[in-house]
Amino acid sequence: MKKRVLSLMLTALMTMGLAVGCGPADTGAAPDAATDTASETVEDSETPLAGGKKVAVAMPTQSSERWINDGSNMKEKLEALGYEVDLQYAEDDVQAQVSQIENMIAAGADCLVIAAVDSSALVNVEAQAKEAGIPIIAYDRLLMDTDAVSYYATFDNKGVGTAIGKYIEESKDLKNAKDSYTIEFFMGSPDDNNAVMLYNGLMEVLQPYLDNGTLVCKSGRTSFEDTCILRWSQEGAQKNCEDYLTGFYANDKLDICATAFDGFAYGCKAALEGAGYKVGEDWPLITGQDAELMATKNIIAGSQTMSIYKDTRLLADKCVTMVQAVLEGSEPEINDTEQYDNGKLVVPSYLCTPVAVDKDNYKEIIVDGGYYTEEQLAN
Ligand code: BGC
Repeated sequence: MKKRVLSLMLTALMTMGLAVGCGPADTGAAPDAATDTASETVEDSETPLAGGKKVAVAMPTQSSERWINDGSNMKEKLEALGYEVDLQYAEDDVQAQVSQIENMIAAGADCLVIAAVDSSALVNVEAQAKEAGIPIIAYDRLLMDTDAVSYYATFDNKGVGTAIGKYIEESKDLKNAKDSYTIEFFMGSPDDNNAVMLYNGLMEVLQPYLDNGTLVCKSGRTSFEDTCILRWSQEGAQKNCEDYLTGFYANDKLDICATAFDGFAYGCKAALEGAGYKVGEDWPLITGQDAELMATKNIIAGSQTMSIYKDTRLLADKCVTMVQAVLEGSEPEINDTEQYDNGKLVVPSYLCTPVAVDKDNYKEIIVDGGYYTEEQLAN
């Protein structure tokens, strides 16, 4: 669709006798980096391509780098297509997000893109949007208990958990292990559907090893309820890790921190340093999610073992096609119509593929993929 819109724009510009480069026509077909080039060229033309329709983007927090990237990618890509963008962050405050969305509706938004702080807390404001005829796209986190949502752009959330589980399974060769390994779990926020899906994917791989004693969780906290951390709090993960280390690992070492988020990996790192663990000696395998810049640096330095790379440029591309679908009447690409039942409907979704990254493949995936430069990673 983007390709079609861009080529229509190009034709229009040429008919108007404006000088344009070959950028949009050449790059319109490609996603990611090439789209960025297209955006720049389109932006330079200063032509309102989408009739100046307003897209309001509600993001959860700026406390984690990924959401800052998500917000700026969305803004850039939408503005390049001629939409007016109102981007707001709620800093993990549920009420603040409700107020922001109310204001967006009052300010005449034509479409809402929402990455929720609490996926079930927006039901009333979503109903208001529906009443006002404003379509909603769920961004990364499913919006629960509402029939006001049209589409959902995300990553394969269960696949994130499976990828983390398989990484642990392969790194420790659990299939053939003669020894047992100690493990503790740090799972995501209970008000985020992604967190439960990740847990389910992770346990699909690891539960058999907990059952046969290859993995030993000394705290005994293996259920989602016992390991989830409200609002994905880094401090919460650090506190849990400190408690586990003092309570259960005074005479034994912790071998694996199975965490669902780079922020949790930072929290575990601080707790482990405090308890005297040393990188290169007795440092545990630590997992994460998002491949944040800091996490990627930690992977290079050895204080985090892996993360899940989620290319937020790709997610923004997919979400933008959904915005275009609801505003311009086009058809977005959908690849899942089964998994994401929000309690009111099964939301048509596009799932991007998450990729496990570690020190062996970060160059190929992250640097060659143009996500971070070597220079960013070196500083
Ligand atoms: C996202 C993750 C992110 C987490 C914490 C989840 O909803 O899917 O990528 O790590 O929120 O921000």
